[in-house]
Amino acid sequence: MKIAMVGAGYVGLVTGVCLADFGHEVICLDRDADKIRALQDGIIPIYEPGLAELVKANTEAGRLSFSHEMKAAIGASDVVFVAVGTPSRRGDGHADLSYVYAAAREIAASLEGFTLVVTKSTVPVGTGDEVARIIAAENPNADVLVVSNPEFLREGAAIEDFKRPDRIVVGIEDERARAVMTEVYRPLYLNQAPLLFTSRRTAELIKYAANAFLAMKVTFINEIADLCDRTGADVQQVAQGMGLDKRIGAKFLHAGPGYGGSCFPKDTLALAKIGQDNDAPMRLVEATIAVNEQRKRAMARKIVAACGGDVRGRTIGILGLTFKPNTDDMREAPSIDIIRGLQDRGARIVAFDPQGMAAAEAVLDDVRFADSAYAVAEGADALVLVTEWNAFRSLDLARLKSLMAAPVFVDLRNVYRAPEMVRHGFTYASLGRPD
Ligand code: UGA
Repeated sequence: MKIAMVGAGYVGLVTGVCLADFGHEVICLDRDADKIRALQDGIIPIYEPGLAELVKANTEAGRLSFSHEMKAAIGASDVVFVAVGTPSRRGDGHADLSYVYAAAREIAASLEGFTLVVTKSTVPVGTGDEVARIIAAENPNADVLVVSNPEFLREGAAIEDFKRPDRIVVGIEDERARAVMTEVYRPLYLNQAPLLFTSRRTAELIKYAANAFLAMKVTFINEIADLCDRTGADVQQVAQGMGLDKRIGAKFLHAGPGYGGSCFPKDTLALAKIGQDNDAPMRLVEATIAVNEQRKRAMARKIVAACGGDVRGRTIGILGLTFKPNTDDMREAPSIDIIRGLQDRGARIVAFDPQGMAAAEAVLDDVRFADSAYAVAEGADALVLVTEWNAFRSLDLARLKSLMAAPVFVDLRNVYRAPEMVRHGFTYASLGRPD
């Protein structure tokens, strides 16, 4: 099958290369000619485990190519995916659909023969209708069906998620699309991954509902962690006890400094707006957004308290900056609010992240970047573990302590245990655990 991927960003690139790996002939398109040239030279613009190898193998096999010439590629394709960004619109939090609609116009002008236009981008309910309307208006003779196929990939595990999905959601308005989409996902379908066909609007809403529910689950356990701190209960055991109930499930019950990233913050905000616009307020989602915002600031206060109430003139070392491990993504990372909160209280910041330092430099001011956890510890008055990279899971605690000016360790991901830390002479604080 011939597939064109419009948008060679995170989602487009991962989806494109994985579809090529299934044996389809895929061309990834992007307006950014520099990005396309880099990809043609084998340079991958993002850090995602396994992606570079897969791009190389499929490019060499002749199944994957890159171009910024839209017209010919779209005309030759059976299926055109739209994987462009839908960031929060400045000012009101609505999803900004200008890239999606621009892609629709460009695709419309290039269509030849029966084609499926498949929206991968996360879009508000009803966007597929508007894409279909734009294409029909621009090119009344086009033989086209517009399909919704939201993605559920996690950064850092995207290839694994693509190849072993819990489900594939496909929203269609015309039965002819069913056979084509089944063919696109044939290898997964043969692997028993459920292919859930719904209406287009339903598929669009599934994506927002799933992300908002997960964000709510994380936020719920974060509030339970705070309650554990006040009552002496242990949040990890509470999560375990809850998670063994199959109706609840164990995943996304890890207390932390608040969710971040390119998806949960923007998608919860957009869903809240969709609710307001449709007179069906999403009150739980609105509360989730507010609680998560407050939490990131509360983490700075927690660190100050662990340092005895004052951090003026002290050096605080930050371990991990990205919003989660195995990515170089700093978007909405809790580390940003935490660091700014500490700086506002007069602290000096030194930080290390295995992949995120280039992106962090662009968003953080007055931070000294070190090249390892131990370099961060040197002379620090406290260490704060913000992102649970594997590199921070088995630190040499004796060495770390010997390097620090004061042995305070604040663990915002509950990676270590208090008895072990106390044995090494640390003053240790974590989230919702009495010991
Ligand atoms: C999320 C969803 O998990 C994907 O299914 C979805 O496809 C993606 O958004 C998207 O819409 O594109 P992602 O943003 O990569 O994926 O990251 P997650 O692994 O979901 O983590 C989100 C945030 O929640 C992170 O800040 C993470 O640290 C936090 N989190 C997650 C916790 O604090 N505790 C948990 O138990 C789980």
